[in-house]
Amino acid sequence: MSAEFGVLRLPEEIRFGWGARASVPGIVRALGVRALVVTDAVLAGTPHFRDLMAEIEGAGVGVTVQTDVPAELPMTAIVRLAEAARNLAPDVVVGYGGGSALDAAKLVALLLTHGGTLPDYYGENRVPGPVLPLVAIPTTAGTGSEVTPVAVISDPDRELKVGVSSPRLIPRVAVVDPELTVGAPRGVTAHAGIDAFVHAVESFTARDLVPAQTAPLPVFVGRNALTAPLSLEAAALIHEALPRVIDDPADVAARTAMARGSLLAGMAFGAAGTHLSHAIQYPVGALTHTPHGLGTGTLLPFVMQACAAAVPDRLARLGEALGLPPHGTVAARAQSAVDAIAALCARIGLPPSLAELGISETELDRIVELTLMSARLVTISPLPQDAEAVARIVRAAHVGDRSLLA
Ligand SMILES: NC(=O)c1ccc[n+]([C@@H]2O[C@H](COP(=O)([O-])OP(=O)(O)OC[C@H]3O[C@@H](n4cnc5c(N)ncnc54)[C@H](O)[C@@H]3O)[C@@H](O)[C@H]2O)c1
Ligand SMILES: [Fe+2]
Repeated sequence: MSAEFGVLRLPEEIRFGWGARASVPGIVRALGVRALVVTDAVLAGTPHFRDLMAEIEGAGVGVTVQTDVPAELPMTAIVRLAEAARNLAPDVVVGYGGGSALDAAKLVALLLTHGGTLPDYYGENRVPGPVLPLVAIPTTAGTGSEVTPVAVISDPDRELKVGVSSPRLIPRVAVVDPELTVGAPRGVTAHAGIDAFVHAVESFTARDLVPAQTAPLPVFVGRNALTAPLSLEAAALIHEALPRVIDDPADVAARTAMARGSLLAGMAFGAAGTHLSHAIQYPVGALTHTPHGLGTGTLLPFVMQACAAAVPDRLARLGEALGLPPHGTVAARAQSAVDAIAALCARIGLPPSLAELGISETELDRIVELTLMSARLVTISPLPQDAEAVARIVRAAHVGDRSLLA
């Protein structure tokens, strides 16, 4: 069997470009006459949002806006949103905001369509049928949630955030308008931006699972022939543009490159998956209450250092995409790519270690234990699937010393 295997699952339509939000009223109207719009309280107060809602109404659509989307997306907030919307019986659900609002919109559409409780759907492929059509409009660059099959929430009964993953959650239409990201605060721009970079790099270094064509596919199938070019293009765009948007939030070209990069990274990881920076971030985020991208970005240089010996060809190829000179041995070029990743993280001001993120040494064993519980993410990494491989990364990241992994 040839190792060339490919899977991509995407929205029916993706609109991208400065001002692309002008397409939203027509898109929503084509899906129905009653729209439920899920956003957060901050974004609901912005002129872009108010103008867009007026234009959707102007297209003949009744709009109900819900803004109860708290940080960390507690399960109870999703249930409240769905209950409040049940009598409305919307034809279409519009998510407008960062990853939190988009994930909330996905889960509200799920509950409104299939009922039940959220734990019924935790894990992979447990959504029994299509959900209400979703239109996703991101305002960060970004989680990629506008094109991915996953939504992440916190559940008070669980120590870690939990995911609902199913191709049924992929929005029907994604409208990615870089202009909407211009107002995002510096910290959000940095953390969402580096998370998009982590999506690109991890989807490119994920294991090639090459499943049998007759088997039902898992949601995340590993790096493959169709995701790899998207990952590389995304990594190149973000590597170049992220420092520029941090320095000048109004840089139109850099904001546009970031929005395209995060979209392409979402398209790639939505099928390929991500791996250890994400698996380790879950417990780190729970212990430190720090944003998702701050954790995945802090961890990425250490995870990639550990991967350098396992997938040197991949990292050398990634380095080429980042514009590094194509000279020297594969091992040397892989190391240069890891160094460039670490330099980007430092350049945007991420902490150099888990200790600086607030993790104490006594918490490391528990972090390793909890990381291994994200079996789906750990399995897709190119490293041995054991506690020692994870423990080495966690120990090195704690003290901020990549040489412990070389
Ligand atoms: N579903 C997926 O594929 C996926 C992937 C990665 C992360 N996530 C999830 O996404 C969430 C993080 O999303 P995020 O980083 O986009 O941040 P966010 O949605 O949590 O937003 C952070 C803050 O930024 C504000 N904000 C967002 N855009 C703004 C703008 N343009 N102008 C002004 N303020 C703005 C929001 O109001 C909020 O206060 C986490 O819950 C994470 O688990 C989901
Ligand atoms: Fe992420």
